[in-house]
This record gives sequence, structure tokens and C-alpha cells, in this order.
Amino acid sequence: MRQPLVAGNWKLNGTLASVRELVESLKAGVGAIENVEVAVCPPFVYIPEVSSLLAGSKIVMGSQNMSRHLAGAYTGEVSGPMLNDFGVKYALIGHSERRASYGETDEKAARKFVAVKEHGLVPILCVGETLVEHERGNTFGVVKRQIDAVLDFFGVEAFDGAVIAYEPVWAIGTGKTATPEQAQSVHEYIRGRIARCDEEIASRIQILYGGSVKAANAEALFSQPDIDGGLVGGASLDADEFIAICVAANQ
Ligand code: PGA
Repeated sequence: MRQPLVAGNWKLNGTLASVRELVESLKAGVGAIENVEVAVCPPFVYIPEVSSLLAGSKIVMGSQNMSRHLAGAYTGEVSGPMLNDFGVKYALIGHSERRASYGETDEKAARKFVAVKEHGLVPILCVGETLVEHERGNTFGVVKRQIDAVLDFFGVEAFDGAVIAYEPVWAIGTGKTATPEQAQSVHEYIRGRIARCDEEIASRIQILYGGSVKAANAEALFSQPDIDGGLVGGASLDADEFIAICVAANQ
């Protein structure tokens, strides 16, 4: 039985005041939700503050990125040990915005994925096709390539204890959501791809859906057999919406 996970990706949003307000509302709102793990991924600069605000709460923290390097001349980067200092549990890897704007290739994402695990964090590997790839009917091909980058470099064991987020790029921030059936077919494909190498790892791995998840569509998405929760962008900045999404995962 896989525990649902709902992670909020705050992206480049917030002020110290708004972050404090959001965290306080979330703490009050998700405390009674028993069977769902709730995570928030603040911008790096707010991680220390969010970490102390979340002390003693059931909400855990994720980062939006992580350097694969330990230390050295890597201006602007944040390492695994730095995230460890603040109790960060998850790290998003290969988000489509990082692939599109920051040169994150499949190979770089795979190397980061393994570095995240080496530092005791849990990687959330983001995969998904663009609109053009979607319209060409190449969804499975793209997702396969992104998953296989990790499989080929590091083997299926790398996925043990990891999380995958399927996020069709055409659904991110656009208000267009994959239908529950569309999303389920890709999630099933992803689990099947891992199962070809190791059925137990495949049955354990949590596969989240991301792309315009909101309170109104969350329940239908989360009721699909291979959708184990969500990676939520825009709606995670609104406490009531995000809490309702977490409630929808608690089924
Ligand atoms: P969205 O973003 O929910 O705003 O579509 C999801 C994501 O990018 O992780």
C-alpha cells in the first residue's frame, strides 16, 4: 500500500510575510489529515524560516533543486549537506522549467538524482512531454527516455525509495489538466517501465501527477490506481486550495 504524497512547489514566489502566513495556515489545516504525507518546497532562501516554523508539525520540506556537487566553485548552487542542515526531506529533480530554462539534460538530471539519494534525501524526478511532443503522440517515448536516463546510468535500484512526478508540460501553469484517464495511462506506463527491471520497486514507488492540480480535479486524479498524489504549483500558494487537495488525497 503506497502512502499518498502531496507536495507544493512554490517556485519563485513569496515574501517572508506571505511564507509565514501560508505555513501557519497549512499547519492548522493539514494536522488532522492522517494518511497523506504533505510537503512544501519553498525557495531556498526561505528554507531556514520554514524549517523552524514546521518544527513539530507533520509537514515536511522539499527543495526545488539541488547541486550534485558537495562544495566548491559553483556559484549560486545549494548542496545536499546544506539541505540536510535544515531537515529537508525531498528534492525536486529535472523539473520541466529547469530542463527548459537551465540546461538540465536527462543526464544531468540523472546525476543529480543519484546525488540527492547519496545525501539521504528523497529525489522527486519530474518527467513529462511538451505540447508538441504530446500532439505528435510521443508521450511515452519522452517519458521513457527521461526514466531510462536514470535506469541506464544507475540501475533500477536508484528508484528504490524515490518518487517520480509525471507532469505534462502542456498542463503546467496553463489551467489545462490531463484527464484522469490520460494521466493514469502514463502513470501505468511509468510503473510498467520500472517493473520490467524490478516488480517490487515498481509496486512501491510513488508516482505523483502534476500540472494544474486544484481542489476541483484532485479527487478524480487521485482515485486512479497508479496516481499516488500530486506535485502542485499554483494551487499550493493558496492555503485553502492546497489543504483541499491534501484532503482529496486522503481516501
Ligand atoms: P501547476 O505547476 O500546478 O501550477 O501547473 C505544477 C508544477 O510545475 O510542479
